Amino acid sequence: MKIGLLGLGTVGGGVYRIVENCRERWESKYGEKINIKSILVKDMHKKRSIRVDSSVITDKALEIVKDPEIDTIIELIGGNDKAFELIVKAMESGKNVVTGNKAVVSEQFTKLIETAVKNGVYFGYEASVCGGIPIIKTLNQMKDINDIDYIKGVLNGTTNYILDKMSREKIGYALSLKQAQEIGYAESDPTADVEGFDAQRKLAILCSIAYDIHLKPEMIPCMGISKITGKDVSAVKHMGYIPKLFAYAKKKDHFFNACVEPVLVDRNDVFANIPGAKNMVAVNGNYIGELQLDGEGAGMFPTANAVVSDLLDILGKSSPSYPEFGRGKLSFLGMEGCTGRYYVRISPGENRIIESLLAEIERENVECKIFKDRDDLIMVTEKTSQKRIYDYMKAIDEKNWSNCFMRIAD
Ligand code: HSE
Repeated sequence: MKIGLLGLGTVGGGVYRIVENCRERWESKYGEKINIKSILVKDMHKKRSIRVDSSVITDKALEIVKDPEIDTIIELIGGNDKAFELIVKAMESGKNVVTGNKAVVSEQFTKLIETAVKNGVYFGYEASVCGGIPIIKTLNQMKDINDIDYIKGVLNGTTNYILDKMSREKIGYALSLKQAQEIGYAESDPTADVEGFDAQRKLAILCSIAYDIHLKPEMIPCMGISKITGKDVSAVKHMGYIPKLFAYAKKKDHFFNACVEPVLVDRNDVFANIPGAKNMVAVNGNYIGELQLDGEGAGMFPTANAVVSDLLDILGKSSPSYPEFGRGKLSFLGMEGCTGRYYVRISPGENRIIESLLAEIERENVECKIFKDRDDLIMVTEKTSQKRIYDYMKAIDEKNWSNCFMRIAD
């Protein structure tokens, strides 16, 4: 196996180290020489903590992708168009491709599978969802046997790290995010993490596999954690809850719903105790029941481990795991028909406005418990339509009043 490694960032560096450490064992097990022949970097002169022979480093992506000696490409440059172009070129040149790029997989899933199948190459994407947790291969096999009823979980390490720091150590949002970036959990633009887009992409990939329909990420309603303040975390803690950024999908008759939003879980719930950058996914199938997987969802070695698991599949000549788009019978409904209880905080900055909001809530007959202080109106609603809450809070947003709302887990 001659590898072209595209990207030597956090995960690329981890892959390089694991391959170097394990190479001899794999060579004797699989009877094949393994060599990282070329590595693509953005900056040839950057000082790196990892020691790599300078002769293998290049900043010319096409040279690697077109190199006839290279049979396997590992794409870890992230982003959309450029990565997609390189992956397709590599496959068309007969090379196996392994990627951890959830943006490309979620957006281009159909085209990537078609191109891999057409060119008879292996396409591995285990590292695109939940770092070290082997959810892709597990779900691909599970759905071949089971009807998947639901998927739910904490799919983003950065936001779990931030919320965990805020809940357990009372460290503020900004400092917790800075720490997550320093450790290498966050995406290069952390907006993708904190606004939920990273979890949205991962959920889109999982739904696409579970329901055999290519669900694009932008179709999934999504809200992140950037509005959650220390005040919210401490208010919900007094009620017995821990906030988590949750991604979930649920089948109902011939439809399925999916959503990414902050959810309050009971402090004794198994999800409440997922610490740091860990992820946890629960999937329910009609034969297997609920399967729970938890582990490190981000970071150098856990994610590199997932990349390498695909390399071992190639070495062991295992069949790749692909969904069968077109076979799926369910239609996607977004959040339509969903209900929930919600924690809502509105901080308009003036007591007069809080009083008028209270009068409005009474007029509208919203069933809820109200906790009010000088600056904030906090309510816990009874079961209500998810869409009604989202529409109401959108109107609050438009008035530029600080606010936050989170669904309370059933
Ligand atoms: N930024 C991602 C996370 C990395 O925090 O989960 C792994 O996908």
